[in-house]
Amino acid sequence: MGAKVVVVGAGAREHALAWKLSRSPHVAHVFVAPGNAGMPVCFERWDLGSFEAFAKRCVVEHIDLVVIGPDNPLAEGITDILESHGLLVFGPSRKAAQIEASKSFAKDVMEAARVPTARFKVCDSAADAKKVIENESWPNGLVVKADGLAFGKGVHVCDNEEQALKAVAELAPHSPRLLIEERLAGEEVSWMAFCSGVDCSLLEPARDFKRLLDQDEGPNTGGMGALSPVPGVPAHWAERMQREVFEPTLRELQKRGCEFKGLLYAGLMVDFAQDRYWVLEFNARFGDPEAQVLLPRMKGDLYEWCRASAKGELAGWPRIVPFSEESAVTIVAAAPGYPQAPQSGILIEGFAAKSREDTMSAVPPLFSAAVKKDGDGFVSAGGRVFSVLGMGPSLKVAREKAYAHFSDLSFKGMQLRRDIGEKESRSQALPRIAIFASGRGSGFGAILNAIKNKELAAQVCVVFSDKNDAPVLELAKREGVPICCVDFSKFGRARRAEFEERVIAEMRTFQPDFLVFAGFMRLVSRFFIDAFRSPKGYSRIVNIHPSLLPSFPGRDSYAQAFEHGVKITGVSVHLVEEEMDGGPILAQEAFDISDLRTASEVEKRGLSVEHRLYPKVLNWFLQEQFQVETLSSLASEIAGRRTRVLQN
Ligand code: GAR
Repeated sequence: MGAKVVVVGAGAREHALAWKLSRSPHVAHVFVAPGNAGMPVCFERWDLGSFEAFAKRCVVEHIDLVVIGPDNPLAEGITDILESHGLLVFGPSRKAAQIEASKSFAKDVMEAARVPTARFKVCDSAADAKKVIENESWPNGLVVKADGLAFGKGVHVCDNEEQALKAVAELAPHSPRLLIEERLAGEEVSWMAFCSGVDCSLLEPARDFKRLLDQDEGPNTGGMGALSPVPGVPAHWAERMQREVFEPTLRELQKRGCEFKGLLYAGLMVDFAQDRYWVLEFNARFGDPEAQVLLPRMKGDLYEWCRASAKGELAGWPRIVPFSEESAVTIVAAAPGYPQAPQSGILIEGFAAKSREDTMSAVPPLFSAAVKKDGDGFVSAGGRVFSVLGMGPSLKVAREKAYAHFSDLSFKGMQLRRDIGEKESRSQALPRIAIFASGRGSGFGAILNAIKNKELAAQVCVVFSDKNDAPVLELAKREGVPICCVDFSKFGRARRAEFEERVIAEMRTFQPDFLVFAGFMRLVSRFFIDAFRSPKGYSRIVNIHPSLLPSFPGRDSYAQAFEHGVKITGVSVHLVEEEMDGGPILAQEAFDISDLRTASEVEKRGLSVEHRLYPKVLNWFLQEQFQVETLSSLASEIAGRRTRVLQN
């Protein structure tokens, strides 16, 4: 017989949880307590009532698993009560849920577990907070937080002390204890994991959009939209998060007798260029609206993951939860007056028709939240009314699909952000190049300048080096470009295959469209080249070599040319194939060196040619290859261009 599951909560997140659980082959019935009127009727609704009464009903109905959606019941101890009746619960105990319910507890745990977080002070009165604000220096602005739960509205991000004092005046009447924190700059990332005891399995990261208005203006809300995957998050960060954030936090909670099981959510501020992050907060449950993008992307069976976490049996499970390659974007439709005073009772046009599409598609087009039935129609019944979902092969497509739902779905005064995923999909649209360099990086510098001057339409998604101490890494850091290094010396020739596998794995996370070698002094194998080969069969690795190939392959080519006494040498841009400095030549430029007296003069002249030629060739090559979908003509095109010699 199939399992019976109850989802506790009433929002769009709970709709997403109920939908995902209902897709499990092990699950026969999904109940929602209390759910909302906009959810499909297949999810039978229960009153939540008192936790005791709810627990008894679960026992009578032989419920196999209870999944808790929101933070409040967790903080009030719903898990403890349900468990005392012998029920299996996905969600932490009241003590463990303090990681979310008390900001000061969370900070204390983070400090003890050495999890990077913002500088902070806990204040037990408004007067205390005022003193901290006025007496300490906050050069980057401050964040004032209510210590307890506040439905995502207890956080004020302030530019200066004056704003912070205003925030204290607003929050103090609701929360006697306040946190004053330094404001951090960077990009926000939400990272979640199934946890039990000290074991955890990470989901892919997501991003939510907390402010009410476009361009992150306006007051904080529960969340106005979300997307996943998050461009720019390196794959190796999953392991890093596990090691540096989740595991130490779980161990610290266990040490304090607050063993965590359920879903732990780390809200991060990330500085990709500096390869740094800070945990802003922990939550003890799925994010809303992050759940609405993560669950549709998650492969596999949510019921089994929740059960294993709830039973404390995660130990043997994969440490990374499998996800589909698709992108997902969700947009929240909020009532007029939200977040201060949302208006209820507004008719939602197109709601019934849109939710009927649910049964026809693999993923629901919308997740309903503050929705009530009114006669034949549906009306708003609170702040965040529903969220729509778009999925596709890129964030751009996912975003377009999500916004398209509003062509036949709206209500009077509907508040909607128009910029969810705009920046992220734009950054996905330019060809992404990974620079591979082993040395000083003057070639990388020239490429970056060309991008800044709009001569090269591309984005550098990462600078990779095979040497820990390569100056190019420092240059990339200064320029705010993400870096990645797999030090070859740790592998050596005998373990070249392992080195390459590692580099390929790292690159998967940066998702480059092309690799651009700029002074990368390492031969790569066919295996490596094939890992980046286009489906049409051409190499997606470009190199610049300091000679007119096939003359002077290998190292020190300018010196070789000088020593041979040639009068003319040059540079070649070519696609990388297995043979050293072989592969189809895209362009060459020759220059006279008959007047030069030393090899270093030759190099100087050569570099100035390289720095002009390489961005130019990359521009036409990347644009053509990136935009032209059918690449069958590429081979003949390359053959046509390979003899092209650009003269000064
Ligand atoms: C450049 O001259 C480049 O052509 C060469 O290394 C130099 C790197 O300088 N590449 C090769 O020889 C590849 N076989 P950089 O680190 O200042 O860009």
